[in-house]
Amino acid sequence: MIADETVERVRLAADIVEIISEYVPLKRSGGTWRGPCPFHQGKNANFSVSPAHGSYHCFVCHESGDVFTFVRKRLGLDWPAAVKLIGEKVGVEVIDAPRRQQAPDPNAPNFEALAAAAEWFQQQLLDHEVGRQAREYLTSRALDPHAWQKFGLGFAPRDGQLLRRYLHSLGVDDARQLEAGILVVREGDPEPRVRFRGRIMFPILDELGRSVGFGGRAMGDDQPKYLNSPESSVFQKRRTLYGLHTAKQAMRRVSRAIVVEGYLDAIRLSLAGIEEVVAPLGTALTEEQAQLLVRYTSSVFLLYDSDEAGQKATFRSGLELLRAKATVHVVSLPEGEDPDTYVQAHGRAAMESQLGNAIDLFDRQVQLLERRGWFADLRHRRTAIDKLLPTIRAAREALTRDMYLARLSDATHVDKATLSAEADALPESGLRRTTARGGAPTSGHHPGDGPPSFDGPPPTMDEYGEQAEPAPLPPPASEQRKPWTPGRKKGYKQGPEWQATNVPPRPRRDEPVERALVRAMLVDRGVAERVAERHPPDAFREPRYRELFDTLLHAPLEDDLEQIAERLSSDTLNVLRELTDAGGYEAGAADIGLTLGKLDARVLETRINEILEALRTATREEQDALMRERLELEAEIRRLVPIRSPRGRSRGQG
Ligand code: UTP
Ligand code: MN
Repeated sequence: MIADETVERVRLAADIVEIISEYVPLKRSGGTWRGPCPFHQGKNANFSVSPAHGSYHCFVCHESGDVFTFVRKRLGLDWPAAVKLIGEKVGVEVIDAPRRQQAPDPNAPNFEALAAAAEWFQQQLLDHEVGRQAREYLTSRALDPHAWQKFGLGFAPRDGQLLRRYLHSLGVDDARQLEAGILVVREGDPEPRVRFRGRIMFPILDELGRSVGFGGRAMGDDQPKYLNSPESSVFQKRRTLYGLHTAKQAMRRVSRAIVVEGYLDAIRLSLAGIEEVVAPLGTALTEEQAQLLVRYTSSVFLLYDSDEAGQKATFRSGLELLRAKATVHVVSLPEGEDPDTYVQAHGRAAMESQLGNAIDLFDRQVQLLERRGWFADLRHRRTAIDKLLPTIRAAREALTRDMYLARLSDATHVDKATLSAEADALPESGLRRTTARGGAPTSGHHPGDGPPSFDGPPPTMDEYGEQAEPAPLPPPASEQRKPWTPGRKKGYKQGPEWQATNVPPRPRRDEPVERALVRAMLVDRGVAERVAERHPPDAFREPRYRELFDTLLHAPLEDDLEQIAERLSSDTLNVLRELTDAGGYEAGAADIGLTLGKLDARVLETRINEILEALRTATREEQDALMRERLELEAEIRRLVPIRSPRGRSRGQG
C-alpha cells in the first residue's frame, strides 16, 4: 500500500508531458500537446495531453487517464510499480508498506465528522428559514449561490445542540465531536455545545481535500470577527493554507502562487479566475506554510492589504519564503484596498496588471527606505543597512542573496564584500540583533534608586511636562520577566500594533513630550523615523523612552511589537505595558510637528541655561553677545512652542 499523500506528491512533481514524451512524439498545440495515439497505434495527432489537468485523452479510441494510468497501460505495470517508477524519475521516495502494516488512519473518523458537519452547515445555509439572514449577508458581500457551492460555504445556527444531535444520529459521539473541535465544553456547564453559532462557515480543507476545520465569520459586530477551529490532531494552523487544495493545480499550471490575507480575498480572486491563491490562517506565513507552498512553485506573490499591518505581514511572510528559497514578489494595492474590494471594483484584468507591477521583496524594502530618505546621509544609511540585513540573511538561495547584496551596495555605496561579511557576522537563526548603535539603550534605573535621574535638565522643562515624566512610569521590574502580549484579545490583524478602541485622539496637553512621541511611534513606526530625522534617540532623556525609541527605530521592517518587546530590558518592557494600557495615539503630521517643536525648544533651553551660567563669569562684551544670543533663542522658542504657560515662561527667564 502506498500512502495517498505519497501518490499525490509524485503526481504533483511529475510533468505528464515530459513523461509521455518518452513514448510518444508530442508537439505543442495551444495549452495541450498532441501526438499519435500509442494505444490504437494511430498515425494522426489525435492523442492529446493536458498538463493543466494532468491527463491524456485519445479522440479516436477514447483511451484516457493520468500519468499513472499511462505508464501502467503502456508498460504493463501494476499500480504500485507505476507509482514507484514515476517516483524515481521525479525524485520522490515511494514506500510501499506491506498491507498488514497499513493500520487504518486514526484521523479518518475526525475527517469524516468534520466533513459531515461541513455538509450540514451548507444545508442550513440553504434552508428557507434558518439560512435566510446568512444568505442575505453573503449576497451583500457579493457572493452568489455559485460561490457558496464552489467554496462549500455554510451557516451555523445559533442553537448549539442541533448539529450535535444530528452528528449523534450518524454515530459520531460527543468524544469524537470534541476531538474534531466541533463541540466545546465551557467551564461551569456540563453540556458540551457547538463551537460555532450564528456564523458564516468557511470549511478548511487540507492539501488532499480532507475537511480539517472551519473559519466562522460573525455576521454582525460579534467578536471575534472570525472564529477558527481549535488546534487538533487534524488541524494545525501553522501547517494549513486556506484554498491550497483548489489552488495547487493552478499553481503548477501558471507557475506562481499568490498569498492573500483573508478567506474572502482568496475566494474573490479564485472566483475571478485567478485560482492559484491561498491564505494563511490569520497570521503571516509560517515556516511550514512557506515550505508547503514552494513544493508547488517557487514564485510567490504577496498580495496583502494596503495598511501598515499588511505591510508588516508582507515582510515577515517574505522572509519565511526567502528561507524556503522562493522568489518573492510584492504587490502593493492602492491605499485602502484589499484584494477582495479591489477585484470587485476593478475586475480581473486590473488585478492582473497589479500582479504584473509587483516588485521583488528586497526592492520593495529598499524603495520604502529610499522614499523616506534613509540613504541620504551616513547616520541614516547605517541604520538602513541594519534594517535590511535580516532580509539578506534570510535569502538562502545563493543567486538571490548575491543580487540583494548588489542592490544594497548600489543603494548605500558600501562595498558588496563588506556587506556580505556583515550579513554573515550574525547567523540567521531566528535570533535578532538588539541594536547597540546610535544611542545605546541604557536602563540605568535600578530598583531602589528612586525616580530615574535626568541628565542635566534645566528646571524650565516642566512647561513641556518633563517633570511629570517619572510619574506615569510603572514601578521597576520585578525579577520575573513576563512576556509582552498585545492589548487585544487575539493577535489580529497580523501583529496588531494597536487596539484602536478608546484611543485618545492626541496627547494630553500636559503629556511629557517623550512619552507622547513614543506613544505615537507605537502606532506608526514612521513617526520614529520622522523624529529621528531631527533628534536621534540619544536626545531622549528618560532612558526607558530612549530605549523604546531606539529599538523601534532600528527594528527590522517585518518585526511586530511582540518581537520588539522581546528585546527590551525589563524596565522598558514595563513602560511598554503601561503605554499599551494607555492606548495608542494616531498622530497627524501637525501634532508631530508641534511635539517635535517642543523637543527642538528643549535643546535651545539647554543652550540658554549654558548662557545663564556663562554670564556669571563673562566680560562686558561677552555679556552683550550672550544676551543677544539668549534673546534670539527665546524668540525661536516662542516660535516653536506657541502656547506656553505663563509660569514656565517666567521661570524660563530665570
Ligand atoms: P481580515 O480581518 O482582513 O478578514 O482578516 P477578511 O478575510 O478580509 O474578511 P472581511 O472582508 O473583513 O469579512 C484576514 C484573515 O485573518 C483571519 C482570517 O483568516 C481572516 O480571513 N482572522 C481575522 C481570524 O482568524 N480571526 C479574526 O478575528 C480576524
Ligand atoms: Mn481583509
